[in-house]
Amino acid sequence: MILRSLLLFAVVVQLVFASPFASSYRKDVRPLVIWHGLGDSHSSAGMLEFAELIKSVHPGIFIHAVRVEESIEADQRAGWFGNVEEQIVKVSEQLASIKELEGGFDAIGFSQGGQFLRAYVEIYNEPPVHNLITFGSQHMGISDIPGCKPGDILCRLAANAARAGVYTSWAQTHLVQAQYFRDHKNLDLYLATNHFLPTINNEVPSILKNNTYKANLVSLSNLVLVAFSEDQTVVPKESSWFGSFAPPDENVEEGTIIPLKEQPLYVEDWIGVRTLDESGRLGLEICEGRHMALSRACWEPLVTTYAGGSLRAENTLVVQS
Ligand SMILES: *[C@@H]1O[C@H](CO)[C@@H](O)[C@H](O)[C@H]1NC(C)=O
Repeated sequence: MILRSLLLFAVVVQLVFASPFASSYRKDVRPLVIWHGLGDSHSSAGMLEFAELIKSVHPGIFIHAVRVEESIEADQRAGWFGNVEEQIVKVSEQLASIKELEGGFDAIGFSQGGQFLRAYVEIYNEPPVHNLITFGSQHMGISDIPGCKPGDILCRLAANAARAGVYTSWAQTHLVQAQYFRDHKNLDLYLATNHFLPTINNEVPSILKNNTYKANLVSLSNLVLVAFSEDQTVVPKESSWFGSFAPPDENVEEGTIIPLKEQPLYVEDWIGVRTLDESGRLGLEICEGRHMALSRACWEPLVTTYAGGSLRAENTLVVQS
């Protein structure tokens, strides 16, 4: 009898508190934060579907999709236009304000969302990230502005503006891709005018390396970098593993890649990637296909291993409203 009334009470509580946006989640499963890629938004069909797929692997997991802006249109636009440093400040405040994340979380960054989440870890990391997985991200920048799908007006506008000059102070505060454009043919200009990427890569020779960035990145349990085998959007695609084009040199063939382990960033361990590697916490993964071709064979083993870990011993179901 008591059991039956308890059950009835539970059902009533569910009915009263279950708004369309409420969902139950398990407190003992480490939450997950996902930062979408360029052209996407926090609540696109693709993002919602991916969240559901992750929940099928890790039932009860709490998932937060980063929202630079609340409205879908504005959030999508913010992938092209805006000041990256300001966007990351905003996101750090957002993540710190979400009660479910206060014990730390795992994070997945799609494309540019990957280097932005890495910047969050390096600069803030409060609450802390445990595992960071980046898919097709541009950790060593891009050397070419990606082409646009027909009819993609935002992409056209951004690409035209970038062609007018990626290293103008306007572009460096208003065009997102310009803020991780790394011109291997003009590294001095890149280092002098780009604020975002050289900073989080501790790459500017005249500025002392910021040890906070390194200490925070090294505090990750795992950093998993996923590159796509046929990526033609990210130029060069090796950027997803911190590779870059070699600067022009008469002895070096054009298009030669400096791989991760030959980058001074790695060799001199500017941001801790080498430390992570040497302690077995750097994953270098390849997914087959073009940029962000997220097949189940690609994401599922990674999400199974690096997301949904146990956070606390007790097994509590929490109703969130
Ligand atoms: C390093 O970065 C942190 C986070 O942005 C900042 O608070 C600190 O002042 C920086 N330190 C130096 C020496 O620049």
